Amino acid sequence: MLLAYFPRFLQNICIFTYDFFLTLFNLVAPKRRVGSVTPHGSPGAGGKWPKFIPPKEGDKRSPCPALNALANHGILPRDGQNIKFADLDRHVRNTYNFAPTFPTFTALFVAQYLNKNYNTDTCDLAEIGLHNTGIEHDASLLRQDVKFDPDQGVPYLPFIDELLASASGKDANGNRLLTVADLSRYSAKRRAEARATNPDFVLDKQHKAFGSSNCSGLLTIFGGRVADLELILKEERFPDGWESRVLSRMGMTFMKLNLTVFKLERGIKEEDYTHA
Ligand code: HEM
Repeated sequence: MLLAYFPRFLQNICIFTYDFFLTLFNLVAPKRRVGSVTPHGSPGAGGKWPKFIPPKEGDKRSPCPALNALANHGILPRDGQNIKFADLDRHVRNTYNFAPTFPTFTALFVAQYLNKNYNTDTCDLAEIGLHNTGIEHDASLLRQDVKFDPDQGVPYLPFIDELLASASGKDANGNRLLTVADLSRYSAKRRAEARATNPDFVLDKQHKAFGSSNCSGLLTIFGGRVADLELILKEERFPDGWESRVLSRMGMTFMKLNLTVFKLERGIKEEDYTHA
């Protein structure tokens, strides 16, 4: 990919300009049809996912449920190794109905923090979880901090149960939904707890933004649907028939995602969980 040879600032100008136009296009273009969100010919089209096989001894996994699910279904290599950046980019885009901008930006960023060449090198899922220098940070919602769980590849079920139990929303059919306010509250609690219990705790502004951006994926791509998230977060597995809840023709853009990210981050009141 040509963009990978551009300096970072030029990459960003190109990606964010394109993102702006895709956002405008999405406003006027007809939405994708429910049942046909995953592109024809891509794994998962029509809700038919390749077989789920949990990771075996020696397989690599990341702190990201969305990437691990791709490996558990064989969309990325099942052993989580030798992943081409272009494949990461393409499969994140097609599986989750992201606009091309988010996956490309993220894959380029991963290549950059791993000191690798997007076009010629590969990475493994565990490497993607590089602590603090990369995207991975303390006070996550689905994993204990690196201090207590250096591996980061396996979901921490007590956190996930607590998060899902906090869901206060309901859809028209009475199904339980996580809301922005639920995510803000649980993020605040996790930040306060981690700050109090982890002697190595660090969470800078950039990593707060990454955290809220990841959590926004739970609300947008997964629609906050608790029944789906039970399987996706705990087993890193797609329910049969699952597809992205984002129906935009060109997929979820950065601009659109950031509306949720800002609301979520603004609602985080860590002081509510800090006991003197
Ligand atoms: C190339 C694409 C992606 C990369 C490189 C990536 C990487 C990561 C990393 C490193 C983390 C750990 C952050 C932490 O410490 O909490 C993470 C967490 C997460 N990611 Fe991804 N991710 C990608 C795509 C996605 C997508 C498409 C979604 C949603 C559909 C998603 C949802 C999440 C969620 C929910 C978490 C957990 C956040 C938490 O525990 O607080 N990611 N991701």
